[in-house]
Amino acid sequence: MRAVVYDRYGPPEVLRIEEVEQPAPKDDEILVKVHAAAVTRADCATREANRRSGPAVALVSRLISGLRRPKQRILGTEFAGKVAAVGSAVNEFAVGQSVVGTTGFRFGAHAEFICIRGSARIARLPAGMSFEEGASICDGGLNALWCLRQGNLRKGEQILIYGASGAIGTAAVQLARYFEADVTAVCSTRNLDLVRSLGAGEAVDYTREDFTKNDQRYDVIFDAVGKHAFSRCKSSLKRRGRYLATDGFRNLFLALWTSRFGDKTVVFSIPPRYTKQDVLFLTELIEAAEYRAVIDRRYPLEDVVEATRYVETEQKTGNVVLTINGRTPVP
Ligand SMILES: NC(=O)c1ccc[n+]([C@@H]2O[C@H](COP(=O)([O-])OP(=O)(O)OC[C@H]3O[C@@H](n4cnc5c(N)ncnc54)[C@H](OP(=O)(O)O)[C@@H]3O)[C@@H](O)[C@H]2O)c1
Repeated sequence: MRAVVYDRYGPPEVLRIEEVEQPAPKDDEILVKVHAAAVTRADCATREANRRSGPAVALVSRLISGLRRPKQRILGTEFAGKVAAVGSAVNEFAVGQSVVGTTGFRFGAHAEFICIRGSARIARLPAGMSFEEGASICDGGLNALWCLRQGNLRKGEQILIYGASGAIGTAAVQLARYFEADVTAVCSTRNLDLVRSLGAGEAVDYTREDFTKNDQRYDVIFDAVGKHAFSRCKSSLKRRGRYLATDGFRNLFLALWTSRFGDKTVVFSIPPRYTKQDVLFLTELIEAAEYRAVIDRRYPLEDVVEATRYVETEQKTGNVVLTINGRTPVP
């Protein structure tokens, strides 16, 4: 089968298409013919061994992914495709069914086929949904769900979502609205209409207005893009307010410190623990028209380097998807 592989950590150019052996499912696994897979910030960070996050994080990254070179040569965590074979111990899936899923740190989705346990984080593709949309459900969706739950977002609370137009941000806006919170989304001018369409009651354009100076107070501030420090927005939190982080080593220490001292808390719990139930929850929301995948660009598998370069601009809106197995890319 064809797969995107890499043998050393580095820039997007270390990625290349190669013929590799097609995996065969074990008794408890299914074989999925992958039709679409997302290119995520996690793929990019792993590919460069988190070099941009500093030497300490880079070392931890290499300890996990392989000290000298990557142990798993194929990146890609989020996928959608069709079941091509089923192990003898799997009852839940049948050949021909369309599924979506996430491999997490096992990666391997940037390939024509992938094997995954039947009990893993996979679910049926919601009716009427394209494979590209399916591949865009889990990345931001699971992360946002994890953060909002860790932050104990409650009905009627006021939440400000900073970086509301990214993969995590677009998911967070929809989920927070689903949880009946009062959502203020912060993004740049080009994405104001999008975040309103996703359910934000208020949209703040950060190129024109600094929300920390407008005297509004929030129960929760969710920095969905890792660009707004707790210290900068602390005064915009109400008493007992929570700041939810998606990134940043310092937030680990702040989470420990603020859980003991002060009346405003940093919530940053890693690694996130996603479950199959979470994936089912998101697919059910889609079927109930309460949630949708936001796709910015689609690329054929062959253009993985270009797709990766785009993700690394940190300017994608929602998700970027690779189309696999001969699907015609949509411009
Ligand atoms: N996705 C993952 O796999 C994953 C997993 C764990 C942690 N993280 C971390 O979570 C964060 C978000 O990931 P993501 O994939 O959701 O991000 P993303 O999709 O790459 O976010 C891109 C969006 O962020 C906005 N943005 C860029 N710079 C900004 C700034 N200075 N202020 C406000 N908004 C800005 C841009 O929209 P505007 O033009 O509207 O500003 C752009 O649409 C990252 O720090 C990432 O490392 C990601």
